[in-house]
Amino acid sequence: MPRDMEGKVALITGTSGVAAATARRLIEAGANVLACGIDETANEALRATVPPVEVQRADMSVPDEVAFCVQRAVERFGGLDILVNAAAIHPFGTVEDTDIATWTRCFSVNVGSIYLTGHFGIPEMRKRGGGSIVNLASVQGHACQKGVAAYAATKGAIHALTRAMALDHAQDKIRVNSVSPGSVRTPMLAVAAKHFDGDDADLDAVFRRFGDAHPLGRIAEAEEVAEMIAFLAGPRAGFCTGGDYLIDGGLTAGIAVK
Ligand SMILES: NC(=O)c1ccc[n+]([C@@H]2O[C@H](COP(=O)([O-])OP(=O)(O)OC[C@H]3O[C@@H](n4cnc5c(N)ncnc54)[C@H](O)[C@@H]3O)[C@@H](O)[C@H]2O)c1
Repeated sequence: MPRDMEGKVALITGTSGVAAATARRLIEAGANVLACGIDETANEALRATVPPVEVQRADMSVPDEVAFCVQRAVERFGGLDILVNAAAIHPFGTVEDTDIATWTRCFSVNVGSIYLTGHFGIPEMRKRGGGSIVNLASVQGHACQKGVAAYAATKGAIHALTRAMALDHAQDKIRVNSVSPGSVRTPMLAVAAKHFDGDDADLDAVFRRFGDAHPLGRIAEAEEVAEMIAFLAGPRAGFCTGGDYLIDGGLTAGIAVK
């Protein structure tokens, strides 16, 4: 494993699933990591399993709380080089049955948090002479299932915002890319499994079924997504900006013809 992030400072939004695996991976690469999450149970679990990580309880859709987190990273570690935007919520529903508060909250968390970490974080990255931002999008931003209108719309917005940020900040030597996973074994996928199969769903069985939809025949592990994030966040991806990187086991390569 390359230790190519020695002395770098990373702020990650979210503290479970992909965010937790990324915190571990970036620390193994030598980075200092502040992870910011709204869920105190997940925050505590991350503190316990990845001890060198700093964890801040925060709602990353709230401007003052994001500003505080950026400041905390700078004060604790001396600057900011890497942003990984993994915080998200995944409501289910059509535009007809999604209520306005849910629609608005989904955009505030999934897209607004990326705006806010960039808004407060980019000036700090510029002071360091550049940096890298990785936004968690989804295959659902490319092609989607039924009943995920708000979530899919936010993920498409993340693709567009990634391109906009990449163009605006290329001159600052800040690279901006997104990652679009298929199904990944995380708490969010467990919520999806229960949505479809009920609260007493056999998660392993549902995850196998989700995996069967992917040409590789399985779902991804959070560590596999973290590996892609670590590549994009680090110096090995020095010429990558404005891109979206699928990590979907071939899911979007095919069309549903049998
Ligand atoms: N799991 C999948 O199958 C899958 C597939 C494609 C994309 N993604 C994306 O990957 C990213 C990571 O999701 P995950 O699968 O690890 O799920 P997850 O639920 O484990 O992670 C999401 C994290 O965001 C945090 N969060 C939610 N709202 C927040 C807020 N307002 N402020 C701060 N933190 C907040 C949660 O507490 C949680 O730690 C998300 O952007 C998700 O949309 C996941």
